Amino acid sequence: METNHVSGRHFLQIPGPTNVPDRVLRAIDRPTIDHRGPEFQRLGREVLEGCRSVFRTERDVVIFPSSGTGAWEAAIVNTLSPGDRVLMYETGHFASLWRAMAQSLKLDVDFVGGDWRHGVDQGDVEARLDADRDRSIKAVMVVHNETSTGVTSRVDEIGRAIRRAAHPALLLVDAISSLGSIDYRHDEWGVDVTVACSQKGLMLPPGLGFNAVSEKALAAASVGGMPRSYWDWRAMLATNRAGFFPYTPATNLLFGLREAIAMLHEEGLENVFARHARHASATRAAVNAWGLEILCQDPREYSNVLTAVVMPEGHDADRLREIILRRFDMSLGAGLSRLKGRVFRIGHLGGLNDLMLMGALSGVEMGLTLAGVPHQRGGVDAALSFLGGEPEIVRPAPQAASVA
Ligand SMILES: Cc1ncc(COP(=O)(O)O)c(C=O)c1O
Repeated sequence: METNHVSGRHFLQIPGPTNVPDRVLRAIDRPTIDHRGPEFQRLGREVLEGCRSVFRTERDVVIFPSSGTGAWEAAIVNTLSPGDRVLMYETGHFASLWRAMAQSLKLDVDFVGGDWRHGVDQGDVEARLDADRDRSIKAVMVVHNETSTGVTSRVDEIGRAIRRAAHPALLLVDAISSLGSIDYRHDEWGVDVTVACSQKGLMLPPGLGFNAVSEKALAAASVGGMPRSYWDWRAMLATNRAGFFPYTPATNLLFGLREAIAMLHEEGLENVFARHARHASATRAAVNAWGLEILCQDPREYSNVLTAVVMPEGHDADRLREIILRRFDMSLGAGLSRLKGRVFRIGHLGGLNDLMLMGALSGVEMGLTLAGVPHQRGGVDAALSFLGGEPEIVRPAPQAASVA
């Protein structure tokens, strides 16, 4: 098949890593400095303080040189002990991976099954905590935005459910693909540990992992947790007080982080969230117009970060993605584990504007035609109408394709 991507930019439309804006790239492109010197100290103080505003916390945010998986582990080993009972929900691939990690760290996991098309049911959280008379559940661990399915759970409601049950369990939240893209409030929602990383809404390359830590989580860490060293919040927080790190930090990524935080604030967090909501609506308008099915089944849980699209029966999502990559130099997200080949994911998060989104949707529509995937034309028009403020084109209900 003909390829024509010797020129122009690659379209990275996976749900993270996301496009790194030129401003962030330029901020990173600097000589590395002494991480024990005064210039670093200023940088350290700025980013540690700046992170609080993005997580919406008055308390500490720990920054590790790590992937998101490392930050998952840090959240567990600082707050929980082997044998502790925790409540988790099977919202998709990432919730399942976090559960596997919890089990390998010898936690006793109550894993509530799910169909990978819905988020966490806060009523179920409340009922299980109410039923836990001897208060043996030590933590509720949920993924805010399930990147494998495009379903966003309502963490504010889950926090409320825990408070209504007056249960002492900690609330540990994976906000890896929501932070900086979807409204998130660590303090107000009563979250104890928020896990995040750099390569999604923060618009950075991979390499930084974050834990925002509540007072209650810190208290749990001071008396419990597991044997730990690299991930230990105590050494980290003690050194952070002066703007430094206990081991060599990812200095150049921190230059990028400072720039990314500045960009988020220049735009205004509320505007950033509204932009993501708008692009997600435009994408869904396109998918509906194509007559394809959105994996997420509850419109209240539609993700503003990505849209997972179900392939019609008998058509392979990976083949479609491969054609789109070769022909248009655009990467779309693959279906993960049990969704492999059955869905493709359009990432619409991070440093994205209307025309970038329209380019991406055009690539998908052309790819659907090239791959011979049955669909109706007009998805791009529907998204254009949406973004241009014209009435959305209403199409017949999409054909159903089962992914169960
Ligand atoms: C929701 C969620 N949790 C955890 C992870 C794992 O993060 P990492 O691949 O950086 O270790 C990802 C990665 O995409 C994710 O989307």
